[in-house]
Amino acid sequence: MKTAEIRKRFLDFFEKRGHSILPSASLIPENDPSVLFNTAGMQPLVPYLLGQSHPAGKRLASSQKCVRTGDIDEIGDKTHATFFEMLGNWSLGDYFKEEAITWSYEFLTSKEDGLGLDPNRLYVTVFEGNNDAPRDEEAASYWEAVGVPSHRIYFRGVEDNWWSAGDTGPCGPDSEMFYDITPEGLGDLSSEEFEAADEQQKVVEIWNDVFMSYEKKDGKVVGELSQKNIDTGAGLERLAAILQNKDNIFDIDIFDGLREDVLVKSTSDIGEEEKTRAVRILLDHTRTAIFLMSDGVVPSNTDQGYVLRRLIRRAIRYADVLGIEAGGAADFGELIIKEYEDIYPELRHKQNIMDIFLAEINKFRITLEKGIRRFQAYGANNSISGTEAFDLYQTYGFPVELTLELASEKGITIDMDAYNKEMERHQSLSRSGAEQKFKGGLAGTGEMETKYHSATHLLHQALRDVLGDHVQQKGSNITSERLRFDFIHPDKMTDEEKKKVEDIVNAKIAEGLPMQSVTLSREEAEKTGALHFFADKYGDEVNVYYIGNDMESAYSKEFCGGPHVTNIGDLGTFKIKKEESTAAGIRRVKAVLV
Ligand code: SER
Repeated sequence: MKTAEIRKRFLDFFEKRGHSILPSASLIPENDPSVLFNTAGMQPLVPYLLGQSHPAGKRLASSQKCVRTGDIDEIGDKTHATFFEMLGNWSLGDYFKEEAITWSYEFLTSKEDGLGLDPNRLYVTVFEGNNDAPRDEEAASYWEAVGVPSHRIYFRGVEDNWWSAGDTGPCGPDSEMFYDITPEGLGDLSSEEFEAADEQQKVVEIWNDVFMSYEKKDGKVVGELSQKNIDTGAGLERLAAILQNKDNIFDIDIFDGLREDVLVKSTSDIGEEEKTRAVRILLDHTRTAIFLMSDGVVPSNTDQGYVLRRLIRRAIRYADVLGIEAGGAADFGELIIKEYEDIYPELRHKQNIMDIFLAEINKFRITLEKGIRRFQAYGANNSISGTEAFDLYQTYGFPVELTLELASEKGITIDMDAYNKEMERHQSLSRSGAEQKFKGGLAGTGEMETKYHSATHLLHQALRDVLGDHVQQKGSNITSERLRFDFIHPDKMTDEEKKKVEDIVNAKIAEGLPMQSVTLSREEAEKTGALHFFADKYGDEVNVYYIGNDMESAYSKEFCGGPHVTNIGDLGTFKIKKEESTAAGIRRVKAVLV
């Protein structure tokens, strides 16, 4: 079964069972500075899992784009990828364990409208219980009711069968489904045999049903949520590999054309194993980079932009390893866009994406030349220290494999132990930075964040008033200390323009207008003239937030999921701190409320 067919079957299956199908949210979490990327289908839904009402209802399903870069060094093996699509269905305080389990089983095994997987190759795990939640006999009983024999249901601990959205946020016990991918079939397995098969990847996890009814604060379960939710997630590429009898995710149909193209263009005679790894890295990184750029990320030295830069550089590096001529890596970008643009309309801004991609490739080529000169200087005495190797990595973006390869060509030695130590030190520094970031909590909906969110709407409209209607939101990022807003505008703002924008926003705050929302069909919502620039991101029902006593006379109207203040008179005084360029034609404003 083709990947597109699996995606379609999943969404159709849950639509038939009363779920609204949501378009994938952007890879960049909106109004949530605690994480760099959406790493799971539930992430954009956190406020709703915590109780806010969702305009599309209580039953939702989607195929969500996800990026996980924690395992970037493992890419090249059979299962890891930095980008993947997660199929998921959600109940926001509606159905619970029985329906979730019954439908999971039905979708996996039904030949008619599911995947037609063999029930004799299926195993499931459930939570064994602890002080926070009881042993999940209930989930086990529903599995038995659909036909999974009790000896194929394994009880496991919190490290395997509890899912949390970070240290703070919704969480709960889960139940995972595993599929036997051995040619011969493993049959019944004891608990120990199942553990071993899992470790050896003879069985692979294909779906996770989280019974998300608890809440965590600072790493501890603090109690039950006001509603019992279901959050499920299944990796699309993994399902495709199983259904296409492939032992790795890079051999699925989506990559067929790309793999062929890479192999045709590759002129190097490296060994098979090395070649396979390089091809997978090139495909994986290019795909992730293209999707990030389609969601508005541009290469830079911080946050998402830095991850993007690193991915592009590694992709080029592996294009080199494969002996693919300059320009080859860019061609793969185009092929990826072609493969996915029907499903993800944001990829249709092809020219824009390719311009950024090509500019970064060219820039890296120049850095590479400089780096090689630095390498030659460092290696003049035939040895390179750990600090020097790290500097090549850090300052010149040299992946260590490149340094090693150049060194071996020239008979230069590298102190790899010292390099690894330096790298570890750097990683633990950035990890503690990331942990700090995470502390804010996933939802990021504290009082100040909420105020900044409402101020962002005012700013958006004020910018349009002052600069013109070509102003469009390209990105927004909010912390409890400031707002950051990226928008389309060709020129640097003058001091006078900035002052005008501030004055308008502060005048509106002084009017003390209410901020209200209505849920409308998408069509009706569009008729209100409310701003909505991520055209393809909304479902059939949308929330429109407006600032004013009624929609007609409202100063600002915008499609938005909230949350917002109820009266904008509470915002304080608005001040622009900085205005700068982030990419050609895109300006960024940082502003505070004092
Ligand atoms: N949130 C869970 C996961 O990522 C299920 O969607 O596995």
